[in-house]
Amino acid sequence: MRTYLVTGGAGFIGSNYIHYMFKKYGDQIRIINVDKLTYAGNLENLAEVEGRDNYTFVRADICDKDAIAKIFAENDIDRVVHFAAESHVDRSIKNPEVFVQTNVLGTAVMLNCARAAWEKEDGSYPEGKKFLHVSTDEVYGSLPEGEGYFYETTPYSPHSPYSSSKAGSDMLVKAYMDTYHFPANITNCSNNYGPYQFPEKLIPLIINNALSGKKLPVYGDGKNVRDWLYVEDHAKAIDMVQEQGRLFETYNVGGHNEKQNIEIVQIIIDTLLEMLPDEDPRKAHISRDLITYVEDRKGHDRRYAIAPDKIKAEIGWEPETMFKDGIKKTIRWYFEHEDWMKNVTSGDYQKYYETMYNV
Ligand code: NAD
Ligand code: DAU
Repeated sequence: MRTYLVTGGAGFIGSNYIHYMFKKYGDQIRIINVDKLTYAGNLENLAEVEGRDNYTFVRADICDKDAIAKIFAENDIDRVVHFAAESHVDRSIKNPEVFVQTNVLGTAVMLNCARAAWEKEDGSYPEGKKFLHVSTDEVYGSLPEGEGYFYETTPYSPHSPYSSSKAGSDMLVKAYMDTYHFPANITNCSNNYGPYQFPEKLIPLIINNALSGKKLPVYGDGKNVRDWLYVEDHAKAIDMVQEQGRLFETYNVGGHNEKQNIEIVQIIIDTLLEMLPDEDPRKAHISRDLITYVEDRKGHDRRYAIAPDKIKAEIGWEPETMFKDGIKKTIRWYFEHEDWMKNVTSGDYQKYYETMYNV
């Protein structure tokens, strides 16, 4: 049975990935999820898998080398899928240090521990040991409006403390591959959306504010472009890269689904109005009048757009979820999980660990 060490599995993409993997492989795999449970880590996301014999949660900081080395010593880890990171650009502008700490130093610890556990005396690695570093399209910088795409060969040009720290972590992974022939891949993905996303990010924030009749903050002129991908398609891409990708390669993951922020906000308002029955009291206060233009993000990248040609040609991965369907699924999920949103916005989700794990 293959054993996965997933870091940051209690976050948005990590928890969707864990659900995806158990749906796909069932009892054929074992997953150890190591997460510090920062404000972004929510074990409620994983309530459905908690009882499985082939799932283990370990609360630990990826910067804590003793804790990480212990996990490798006690388990024969075959695959590492490294999601854990500080992920929110606005927070990185306010407090860059923790981004360097977790994203750069934490990645160095993960690489060192995996190498120490896996490397043989002759410098080779046993067949099947693989490390996948989950990164972002933001490392490539910003594209002009309506022109060009990010390829794997695009030079790095990060602008925010977040994207710089992710670029630093990518460089470390590249250095390990070049120096130690360390068996890794990097994926650079565009903006994800879907269930379990923390409502500090654009899509869940707009859904939540609209449902509560609050203003919908749009930064700057609202014309910044992001390339949106449904989170399950990202989870599938990660699995396919580990299974079918060439080791030591980087793969860009994205969906040719570019949208201006203002379009996203309008689509959410229109979809909510379409989905809510007339008698639902929340419907009365939802309208485009809630849109409020606010001060722009500092150093705001204008446009991101991924060219997914390599992953499509080599691995056969393509996004499967059309945005019009993905956004409906996402909004429906937030409707059906009002308690999840309430627990997150009230901060109650942070008590879940203490209650479930009796600590
Ligand atoms: P998230 O903020 O929702 O989750 C991050 C998780 O990491 C949380 O569970 C948190 O508790 C955990 N964590 C943070 N610091 C830790 C530490 N020091 N030790 C252990 N665990 C720690 O993030 P996300 O949106 O799910 O993103 C996951 C990964 O994917 C990140 O590496 C991010 O850079 C990358 N990524 C995200 C997107 C996106 O659109 N969200 C797109 C491309 C790539
Ligand atoms: O591109 C991949 C990246 O996507 C990931 O690496 C990051 O972890 C993830 O957070 C995301 O970064 P963005 O900065 O693009 O996502 P965010 O949801 O914060 O913002 C999306 C766009 O919407 C961006 O142009 C800023 C804008 N925005 C955001 C918020 C929260 C608003 O206009 N209003 C808002 O309230």
